[in-house]
Amino acid sequence: MGEDLRSRRVVIAGVGASGLALAITACGGGTDTATSAGGATESSAPQSSAAKSSAAPQGGSALATTADIPVGGGTIFKDQKIVVTQPTSGEFKAFSAVCTHSGCAVGSVADGQIVCPCHGSKFNIADGAVTNGPADKPLPEQQIKVDGDQITLA
Ligand code: FES
Repeated sequence: MGEDLRSRRVVIAGVGASGLALAITACGGGTDTATSAGGATESSAPQSSAAKSSAAPQGGSALATTADIPVGGGTIFKDQKIVVTQPTSGEFKAFSAVCTHSGCAVGSVADGQIVCPCHGSKFNIADGAVTNGPADKPLPEQQIKVDGDQITLA
């Protein structure tokens, strides 16, 4: 009995960025959600060439050297959709570079914050926490390994 209004939330996320799949699955729907939104037309297909997925991230692949990551800042690796930061000298962190607000790729790192160009959300480089909305969830941390001066995806 009753309608399942929760399914309406899925419409918002139909942008096509693979990172959004994480958010969608968290809702625990049960059916394949992305294609069944009633009433929506298919007008929003992104036509950028972002689908160059031949270099899928995999464990152990080299990402950067420590010299690539400024202290108190960070570097965005667009292909891997990862931002690597160095909050303090010798301490390296990595986060998803997909903004938790609407799925834009974050665009820059400045003043100790990772900045999304779409609506201005900012995230702390040390823990990915939101320091400025509209995003309300932190950037998920990614596992990396630092071996000597080599940074690799764990
Ligand atoms: Fe990043 Fe809106 S998508 S602030």
